[in-house]
Amino acid sequence: MNKPNLQQLKALDGGSSANLRGDAITGDRYYSKEFMEREWDRMWTRVWHVGARVAQLAQPGDYAVHNFRHESVLLVRDGEGQFRAFYNVCKHRGNRLVWTDEGTAPAFSCAYHGWTYGLDGALQHVQDPDNFAGGNPCDDVRLEELPCDSWGGLVWYSMDPDAKPLLEFLHPIPDLLRNRNMDEMVRVVWRKVDVQTNWKFASDNFNESYHLPTVHPQMKANIEEDWANTDFEMYPSGHNRMIEKGQPSRRSDLFVPDAVWSDFLAAWDMDAGDWLGRPAEARIELQRRKREVGPARGHHYIDRLNDEELTDYFHHTIFPNLTVTGTPIDGGMHVFRTEPHPTDPERCTFEYWALTPVIEGAEAVPTVAGMMPLAEAELEELTYGVDPVGDFVDQDLSVAVMQQKGLHSRGYRDARLSEQETRVRRFHEVLNDYLEGRR
Ligand code: FES
Ligand SMILES: [Fe+2]
Repeated sequence: MNKPNLQQLKALDGGSSANLRGDAITGDRYYSKEFMEREWDRMWTRVWHVGARVAQLAQPGDYAVHNFRHESVLLVRDGEGQFRAFYNVCKHRGNRLVWTDEGTAPAFSCAYHGWTYGLDGALQHVQDPDNFAGGNPCDDVRLEELPCDSWGGLVWYSMDPDAKPLLEFLHPIPDLLRNRNMDEMVRVVWRKVDVQTNWKFASDNFNESYHLPTVHPQMKANIEEDWANTDFEMYPSGHNRMIEKGQPSRRSDLFVPDAVWSDFLAAWDMDAGDWLGRPAEARIELQRRKREVGPARGHHYIDRLNDEELTDYFHHTIFPNLTVTGTPIDGGMHVFRTEPHPTDPERCTFEYWALTPVIEGAEAVPTVAGMMPLAEAELEELTYGVDPVGDFVDQDLSVAVMQQKGLHSRGYRDARLSEQETRVRRFHEVLNDYLEGRR
């Protein structure tokens, strides 16, 4: 097989290390409390966070709480239907205002002295208003409001009052995902697990596919994991993308039928035996088949997707901690997110969501957790090492804890990256841009 040489790769894909400074990825970034606090002060308090899904805030009065480290943010759909974000703290004497994760309320009443705030954050009621020397607090007190906006069926907030607009922060991800109509998707799996590792393990891991042959050996059956046949893109905004073709890898034995690939094709009435040794042609035929029969089978999302989106894996790493992968499996998407522990740099929460378009007539859809009802899932909080998150996700998690241990070693000073892992260093350089005042 002809592989492009490095010079061609640089010109073609924008994913070359020649675009980077070469900042060292040192171990202390993963365990130092001082580094954790710099991330808080200079990065987490300035980026946009996903606070909730729009589906959780469907009606006026619906609310959801997003706790991030020691901070807590209240996301609300107000009486006019607008999304709003407030620090979840009472302006009287600092009691945490809302203690439940989500719900519906006409107003928010503090459990301490009963101060009550409307959905727009304005203070509506206090006890003994004429006993305040400065006048009735209802005249001037509001919950502290944060920038809030929605995109992709997600409600976002930033702790930076001067945050750039959400769509500018996300650029060009909304354009790249425009065919997916994420805001119409259903979250059919929502799982969260505490992991004994720094949050950046996931950003690193999802910024490379070099680990596929060892950690996910099964994937070569239906994913072209060979770097020379993969597109890598890095954007000035700090977000990255990788596109892997959905076809048996050149690393696999293309003349040995594989059950996963056979099932993949059989779902669209194709016989893998007819395509042995011809993975690229099988992929093109699969695109044709899906377009031909998909809409009549209720897969209306197919009309919006381009040919590549019908078969390939579009893997977006959104700085700093969100990964969104468009898959060819019923138009579904994987979403991964890690968030730091409130105090311990060596712990994080890892979330996995499966999003799926509505498929007319389908009551269940295939996911990493098996067939799941095509309906909004409740949060499942799992125990690491005990409860499976599902399929390949557990394979990714399986290496995270041992890497965290290894990063403490005096024998580790920097990563020695392959070109196809350039996005890993890029992620750390964007983080350093925040920490060192360049962003
Ligand atoms: S702290 Fe909330 S009413 Fe007093
Ligand atoms: Fe992986």
